[in-house]
Amino acid sequence: MRESRKALDLMARSELTAEQQEEVVSDCVANFGRYVNPGILEYRKSVSSDYTSVEWRDEGAVFYDIHGKEFIDCLGGFGIYTLGHRHPTVVKAVKAQLEHQALHSQELLDPMRGYLSHLLAMTTPGDLKYSFLCNSGTEAVEGSLKLAKLWARRKKPSHTLGIISTTRGFHGKSFGSLSVSGKGEFREPFYPLMSGVRFVPYGDADALDKQLAICDAIGFDIAAFIAEPIQGEAGAIVPPADYFCKVREICDKWGILLIADEVQTGMGRTGKLWGMENWGVAPDIMAMGKALGGAVIPAGNFIATEDVFSVMFDNPYIHTTTFGGNPMATSAAIGALHATIEEDIPGQAAEKGAYLKGRLNELAADHDDLFEEVRGIGLIIGMQFKDPDIGYAVSQGLFSRGVLIGGTLFNSLTLRMQPPAVISHEQMDTVLARLDATLSEVSATMRRGELVAH
Ligand SMILES: Cc1ncc(COP(=O)(O)O)c(C=O)c1O
Repeated sequence: MRESRKALDLMARSELTAEQQEEVVSDCVANFGRYVNPGILEYRKSVSSDYTSVEWRDEGAVFYDIHGKEFIDCLGGFGIYTLGHRHPTVVKAVKAQLEHQALHSQELLDPMRGYLSHLLAMTTPGDLKYSFLCNSGTEAVEGSLKLAKLWARRKKPSHTLGIISTTRGFHGKSFGSLSVSGKGEFREPFYPLMSGVRFVPYGDADALDKQLAICDAIGFDIAAFIAEPIQGEAGAIVPPADYFCKVREICDKWGILLIADEVQTGMGRTGKLWGMENWGVAPDIMAMGKALGGAVIPAGNFIATEDVFSVMFDNPYIHTTTFGGNPMATSAAIGALHATIEEDIPGQAAEKGAYLKGRLNELAADHDDLFEEVRGIGLIIGMQFKDPDIGYAVSQGLFSRGVLIGGTLFNSLTLRMQPPAVISHEQMDTVLARLDATLSEVSATMRRGELVAH
């Protein structure tokens, strides 16, 4: 009781005294070590100059630690914060909904789910129409895979329906989504995963065609091909411009579905509302998450064409989730879509992304001892260094200068810059100046042979 009362009292305050701040920091470190996972503390010690940083407040493109130190958020929650932190339209929508209903009965029809599904059908490419709302990206991918199998089984009642995915692709960490993720470090401890998954190199359409020909020759039926419009976790990998056009043709030729995993690329991040719009291609199923809930309430979804989704009409409860499409999440997502379109978030991401990438390329040329390349589109930008230790040092240096940036989850060879699209030009220039200072410092450390290996 004392512990919960203390937490309730603290969360009710936006400002804390110096004593309270210290107490929260020491409680937080102790609780993480004892009850969350001590490994997280070790990880933070290795990547940040102040591992005891505890976050407390956020707004727009910045957040503050408990002592009031400001950080410009260039990690963007790996794609959550496209609209920024606590966007007023989203907060207002959620507060208004909370005043009369938080969660749904599970039995009656809830109107916000209907409005959101309609909005998603209106704003997604091609004939995508029916939505299944869920709570996270991995759940959206799980549902997409199950729907593809249901659809394919209706056409071909085979027992061995496979999925083709891409090397280095990331689709989540529950069993189905992990099974189609192409990164050994995440997969190996959990073998055997879902059977029937084949991989092809990302960006190579001919490899997909050849894999499908092999599967056909050996009588192994494939239900779908799944890929990210731009690979996020792999380090902002942009495929060749004609890749998805060719992929679409190949999927149609072999009669399989195209699943676009838009969990990280959706909601404006790439300079278009949906990443696939960059390639002028409509998928049959699209998975979404992260920014969908406007960075206020978690939300996920998969949306499909009527032809595909109709396999769940007969039995709408073949796939369910208790909290999916709850009024908190749907009000947040409606607010998020409204603000994203009203404020032209895709346009802002395109313009600011081009500016940042241009300036980052200049910095990379000035520091060619450190950089391999800068790549990406819109506000999904990857800075690849010559060595992961350089990436570590750069992210540490930026953190100590009040800029949060993202390594890929397993190493820092590529740092991802994914700031909110509402970041101002002044904030971007501040980030670039701090990055310049950090790069000079890392270069000097390297010249002295003092770069710490991780
Ligand atoms: C492309 C993609 N798909 C799926 C996921 C999984 O989403 P979640 O972490 O919400 O389960 C992620 C998360 O990074 C992702 O980037």
